[in-house]
Amino acid sequence: MSAGPPGLPLTYVPIGEQHLSKLKLLNSVIFPINYQDKLYRQCILFEHTQGALCEGELVGAIACRLEQKEGCARLYIVTLGVLAAFRGQGIGTHLLSCALRLAREDPAVATAHLHVQTSNAAAIAFYERHGFHRGAVLLKYYRKLEPPDAVELSKALHAGDGQELAQRHLECCSAATGV
Ligand SMILES: CC(C)(COP(=O)(O)OP(=O)(O)OC[C@H]1O[C@@H](n2cnc3c(N)ncnc32)[C@H](O)[C@@H]1OP(=O)(O)O)[C@@H](O)C(=O)NCCC(=O)NCCS
Repeated sequence: MSAGPPGLPLTYVPIGEQHLSKLKLLNSVIFPINYQDKLYRQCILFEHTQGALCEGELVGAIACRLEQKEGCARLYIVTLGVLAAFRGQGIGTHLLSCALRLAREDPAVATAHLHVQTSNAAAIAFYERHGFHRGAVLLKYYRKLEPPDAVELSKALHAGDGQELAQRHLECCSAATGV
């Protein structure tokens, strides 16, 4: 458990079974996609899936999983969302930093990836400010959204020697399944 930035009485916790229903509720308010129970259950297996609690209520969360793709290990960010009333106070940054820090603890995890709807300029700018780079645009990635296209964002997690490995990972981890 960690305290995060000063201001609100927030605590940051790994999301486990006990917070699963709150995570689903939070994301149902924030995202236009109904993520499958199976996906949530995969994410809570990883400590990188973290939540921000304010007076016991979940006000923000990052859901991630570690993936193996063609022999490469990567952190895949499934969702990062903060309730509208709590945005702009560093919660999203803290959740993202926490997941990336945990991923960096394993030298084999060289990159972080996610997909964002091409129309979500605010989220793309948020990730770019945090060192993510735009990659391929995947047409018709989202089945039920308009526009249905997604841009892939990725970030190398290690400096120095890791960069070469990260570049290799970015090259081999460029495709993903749509939602
Ligand atoms: C993207 C998102 C998670 C960011 O969360 P957050 O807690 O607002 O993030 P932070 O406060 O750390 O940073 C937000 C940035 O916007 C600025 N900001 C100011 N007021 C803001 C407001 N009312 N709302 C959002 N951002 C605001 C902040 O200063 C900050 O800028 P900086 O990065 O230059 O410091 C949040 O906006 C969100 O839930 N969006 C909807 C879901 C989404 O699109 N997720 C991304 C795809 S998975």
